[in-house]
Amino acid sequence: MKSIKIKEIKEHLNEEVLLQGWVRNFRKASSKLRFVIFRDGTGELQAVASKPDMGAENFAKVKDLTIEASVKITGIPQKHPHKEGVYEFHLRDVEIISSSPDYPIGKKEHGPDFLLSVRHLWLRSPRQAAALKIRHTVYFAICEYLNDHDFYRFDSPILTPNASEGTTTLFEVPYFDLGSAFLSQSGQLYLEAGIMSLGRVYDFGPVFRAEKSKTRKHLTEFWMMDAEAAFVEHRENLQIQEDLIRFVIRSVIAKNLPELQLLERDIARLKKADAPFKCCTHREAIDFLKGKGVDIGYEDDFGAPEEELITTDSDVPVFIEKWPKSIKSFYMKRDPENADLVLGADLIAPEGFGEIIGGSQREDDYEILKNRILAEGYDLENYEWFLDLRKYGSVPHSGFGIGLERLIQWMSGIRHIREVIPFPRMINRIYP
Ligand code: 4AD
Ligand code: MG
Repeated sequence: MKSIKIKEIKEHLNEEVLLQGWVRNFRKASSKLRFVIFRDGTGELQAVASKPDMGAENFAKVKDLTIEASVKITGIPQKHPHKEGVYEFHLRDVEIISSSPDYPIGKKEHGPDFLLSVRHLWLRSPRQAAALKIRHTVYFAICEYLNDHDFYRFDSPILTPNASEGTTTLFEVPYFDLGSAFLSQSGQLYLEAGIMSLGRVYDFGPVFRAEKSKTRKHLTEFWMMDAEAAFVEHRENLQIQEDLIRFVIRSVIAKNLPELQLLERDIARLKKADAPFKCCTHREAIDFLKGKGVDIGYEDDFGAPEEELITTDSDVPVFIEKWPKSIKSFYMKRDPENADLVLGADLIAPEGFGEIIGGSQREDDYEILKNRILAEGYDLENYEWFLDLRKYGSVPHSGFGIGLERLIQWMSGIRHIREVIPFPRMINRIYP
């Protein structure tokens, strides 16, 4: 007998086949009729178990099924009598591979603490599986766009001697006789070396921030895609980001309609975001917020409520550019029109999903960069290599970093970041 996957079901109508998977749920219709929902990772299927069709012996095995038991089932796929595009499976026999007594996640509502403590099982739930399928699409869409636009993958190290995004969120690890190493906050600095060899590069992997904040948007371990390009200046940097994000939106809509529907994502809102993005300066954003009655100064960063206000009337993401240098990283290039500002931009997603990208043109002048490093109080010794890049054939260059989970949150409409990564790492949780 042919073993098939649920997604292939329509190619095997009226043919006896074997499926392997898990029991999602079941329902008793009468003493002779039961419905069982099976899943196998490629899809879900309703199986009809009828005592007269299966015989008493096989029907008795159906009664032994438990939620999340693993099973092999044989039967005949048929078109649903009334629903177009829906298929049913007429069960012939069931073999329990491994039972699942007292599966801890039931039909009743569970609190997030409990669900996080059984994250290894919670992953099987429909919402969680849908979020992870969207994650898969977003990941590969980003890679596809970059690959098609001449960016080489360039893997930056995770153990590093220095900070890229400030010292307050560094994770320190003992490192043999050399003292301490730090877990990377972003591969950016290494990518800046990569572009001087390959022109355009990107990395994509876990980064670490010892964030003290317990919010719906912060993890201590999250995935970042950093991209970097030689001879690209501030404006073009924003254009690349916009094109890339719009490509991701179209990919998710094309590949994940069932998941978006299951998550009740407002797809029309996503479609509207696939249009030219808006851009304003940090100063303009502050003036706008002041006009709305927010108590904020010209050298302040934004919190979640401010980010939400800035995008409330916008269908598309908004770039906030030209930040005061006092609140941005040392590597950002000074604005030639105003030495107090830097050519950096954050991209804020609509619908309250907040900052999804941080990027900038990079300081390419040796003396200015050296002074910025000293002003941060960093140990120059650890940044000699980075300064070398401004000594030997420096060029104008720019880049940006996408927070993968933030982008998935926006695409999927999932409000809490802990649901868009398989095993979330947060300040108060490391298990499982
Ligand atoms: O804005 P950030 O800190 O920028 C950088 O690290 C640059 N070196 C990137 C670059 O230019 N190559 O981080 C980039 C993005 C943010 O916009 C946000 O989406 C996400 O990473 N992010 C987080 N996501 C989850 N949890 C956290 N704690 C995050 N911190 C930043
Ligand atoms: Mg940022």
